[in-house]
Amino acid sequence: MSSPPVHTLALILAAGKGTRMRSAHPKVMLDLGGEPMLAHVLAAAGAVVDSLRVIHGPNMPEVVALAEAAGASLACQATQLGTGDAVRAALPLPDGVDRVLVLSGDVPLLEPAMLERFMEAVPGDAVGVMTTTLEAPTGFGRILRDEDGALAAIVEEKDATPAQRALQEINAGIYVLPAEPLPRWLKAITADNAQGEFYLTDLIAVARAAGVPCVAVPEADSASLRGANTRAQLAALEATLQTRRRDQLMAAGVTLRAPESVTLRGHVEAGQDCIIDVGCVFEGKVVLGQNVKVGAHCVIKDAELQDGVQVAPLTHIEGAVVGPEAQLGPFARLREGTVLGRGTRIGNFVETKKTTLGDYSKANHLAYLGDATLGQRVNVGAGTITCNYDGIGKHPTVLGNDVFVGSNSTLVAPLTVGEGAFLGAGSTITKDVDAETLAVGRGRQRSISGWQSPKARAQRGKEED
Ligand code: UD1
Ligand code: MG
Repeated sequence: MSSPPVHTLALILAAGKGTRMRSAHPKVMLDLGGEPMLAHVLAAAGAVVDSLRVIHGPNMPEVVALAEAAGASLACQATQLGTGDAVRAALPLPDGVDRVLVLSGDVPLLEPAMLERFMEAVPGDAVGVMTTTLEAPTGFGRILRDEDGALAAIVEEKDATPAQRALQEINAGIYVLPAEPLPRWLKAITADNAQGEFYLTDLIAVARAAGVPCVAVPEADSASLRGANTRAQLAALEATLQTRRRDQLMAAGVTLRAPESVTLRGHVEAGQDCIIDVGCVFEGKVVLGQNVKVGAHCVIKDAELQDGVQVAPLTHIEGAVVGPEAQLGPFARLREGTVLGRGTRIGNFVETKKTTLGDYSKANHLAYLGDATLGQRVNVGAGTITCNYDGIGKHPTVLGNDVFVGSNSTLVAPLTVGEGAFLGAGSTITKDVDAETLAVGRGRQRSISGWQSPKARAQRGKEED
């Protein structure tokens, strides 16, 4: 007979202000790898439990919004009286919860597999504590084991004897608890300790007194159990996370020329044989096709670069879809709503926004293309500007297939230029241009023969004196 499914609720403790971060934001909202620390914990927990509850402090609207977006329920701990009180603030638990997995919002590198192993190692009615061994255990609760090696108690650093402080097995702050007796056990906890706090760790003694087995489950990967109380610790977590993400990318077949210089603040998905040069930053969701080459010091956010795209150094791409074999940069800036066709080219000091280029169109140097739709094989000369903004609204520019825009042209939108039209260099184009038509909008050149410069005239005056 199969046993009924167990409903596990993850309680994420996030009421701490994190004073040592010296931030205007709650600690768990500080950024790690492009997302708040709490988002990492919600994702890891969400992968292994049935429901989520976040315990936040008063006036933490950012925490509430993030938790709600992740589908978590909320509980507010009015004053921070300790970790035991924080779990008490989460009561009553929703109906049907059998087990509670307790996590901290500031321990964000946990992996779902690690949590799964832990929960499996603890029998259903028992109390489980994840532990790890640290060479420098300062600040953590120490694990006390009895003669049989079973978990006897957890003693906080401030309450520990020198002999207990010498122990290197520490409490990682991750627990699995049976839901039914939890409210009774929490009532039994007192604040009779060095910090005058309600320690969640005192549950061990209470559970043991009730005859409930308590299990300490060692986890070897102590690096993933680190928390962040200071900006320096946050930077250390960031380094670990970055190494992890770079290793994943390389394992997926991407060459990173100088891995330690590449920063991944989001999710990068890549086809075979992509090469990423020194100092690139990826943010949000980035999808690379096959054989994509990204030159040094590019910043790429929420973008798709299809097969064979080549990006020269110092290019900035955000919110763009780049078609196969396109060539970008150096020093190009693609902004949101840029869609480039196959074999297109966006060269140095060209900025695009809400702009579409058909296949094989190019703007090789020094141009601004905003709210523009270019057909295929359009050539945009250097110094071309779409004047898309009149101070109130934005207006579109439409260039048909095979349009040639001469250098230093000013295209005053709204404007439509028909297929195959040719705009003379230096033109200010304010009216629509028909297909296959030459449009020139500039002062005519005059050449004045026999003209003398003022200097030459002055010289002649002297000679005549
Ligand atoms: C706690 C453990 C310690 C363990 C360590 C692991 C206790 C008494 N001690 O110590 O054994 O080694 O974590 O990191 O539990 N929080 C609240 N409300 C409160 C107090 C804390 O929500 O009133 C939250 C914090 O925001 C944090 C988590 O609980 O996310 C842990 O609290 P913290 O004060 O950091 O506990 P430690 O002293 O580190
Ligand atoms: Mg802590």
